[in-house]
Amino acid sequence: MTTPLRQIVSLLRKKGLSQIFERIALEHASLHMKGLTAEAFGPERTVKIEGRWVTNFGSDSFLGLDQDPRLWSALKRGLEEWGTHNGTSRAFVSAQPNFTAEEKLASWLGTEAAVIYPSVTLANHGAIPALVGRSDVIVTDRFAHNSIFEGVKLASARGARTATFAHNDPDDLARVLTEMEPYRHALIAVDGVYSMSGQLPPLRAFQDIALARRGFLYVDDAHATGVLGSQGRGTVRDALGGYENTVVVGSLSKALSCLGGFVAGDGETMWMLSIHSNVLIFGGPIPPPYLEAICAAVDILDSEEYQSIRSRLDANVQAVLAGVRPLGFVVQGGVTPIISLLIGDETDTLWSGRFLFEQGYYVQSVIFPAVPHHEGVLRIQINANHRPESIAGLLDALRGLRQALSSVRTSIPA
Ligand SMILES: Cc1ncc(COP(=O)(O)O)c(C=O)c1O
Repeated sequence: MTTPLRQIVSLLRKKGLSQIFERIALEHASLHMKGLTAEAFGPERTVKIEGRWVTNFGSDSFLGLDQDPRLWSALKRGLEEWGTHNGTSRAFVSAQPNFTAEEKLASWLGTEAAVIYPSVTLANHGAIPALVGRSDVIVTDRFAHNSIFEGVKLASARGARTATFAHNDPDDLARVLTEMEPYRHALIAVDGVYSMSGQLPPLRAFQDIALARRGFLYVDDAHATGVLGSQGRGTVRDALGGYENTVVVGSLSKALSCLGGFVAGDGETMWMLSIHSNVLIFGGPIPPPYLEAICAAVDILDSEEYQSIRSRLDANVQAVLAGVRPLGFVVQGGVTPIISLLIGDETDTLWSGRFLFEQGYYVQSVIFPAVPHHEGVLRIQINANHRPESIAGLLDALRGLRQALSSVRTSIPA
């Protein structure tokens, strides 16, 4: 039966991004390699996909903590003590591990307090609208993460005025703020590190402008959490010396290998979020077993052992960088453990991802709309637990890819 629901879905499929996704998936069925199923995870960062074991260079668990027995036993202990679920929104009751994990996060970061959200996406959707009112404005770096822009849309629907400024450009930030006057306060939203390019924002210059223009900084440091800064605290403390006039957001799902996101800063701001952020009031929290695992992960980050894990990760990143540079690729990133190789054409990029997979390495092939048109990249995600042999093997495969790419147009199956 043709129902209004079926009609609208079939109309939506023919429009915009849905149409692009479907067309690419159909035209390049054998190369596409998206929406894959991991059939099993093996030792030494191997993953079974399409019945084949390959080394995984596509994981965000940069420190390898996803395989750490201390996180596994914390999860099991949490399950035995608390069961699977908090049982209610935190507006009513929070299981104790919620508070323990937030205190540990704040103590590790050096902030007065922290609040945990179910994901960074939800942190941005929940915190941004809660931090501004109708007479305030939000100015966002043009290249900020999609979830910031979605949070900004929610704030805009509630009456805040919004604008963007040129990427990493303090002069343009100042110009936009001048144009937006009169306003009460300004939330200035940026990423702490842009994972594709590896660029860091000029936080000091942004903070000077913020202080002079009744603004404050909102920094989504998801890609820096655990992998940049001393003890993996991210970019903010190193750049600004502390968290004054700044709200910092971090990830618990990437380097920490658990689940969720956090917002951290001064105690009054965090308390205000806990009573004013709809995601926290009307949504449920992270289950207690994962909160126990977050505590175990933060203990590792805050310990002397962290430096040795980080040294292994940094050495692996340097080994990949040193190996790919002479191959003639345009190399982006490497500040975080993500190194992107510019391939360009969409089909060539997908073909390259498949080529590496056939050689035994899973690397994400990223094309429009995740990156601009004809700027497709291979995104190599490096791990502290990658073995030197795996890195050497990947570099050999990339050398083969480089040669093959010159004839790629004739070798792509019709
Ligand atoms: C800067 C930034 N913010 C937010 C997110 C989304 O994080 P989550 O998966 O926890 O929603 C990401 C994920 O890649 C990110 O890079």
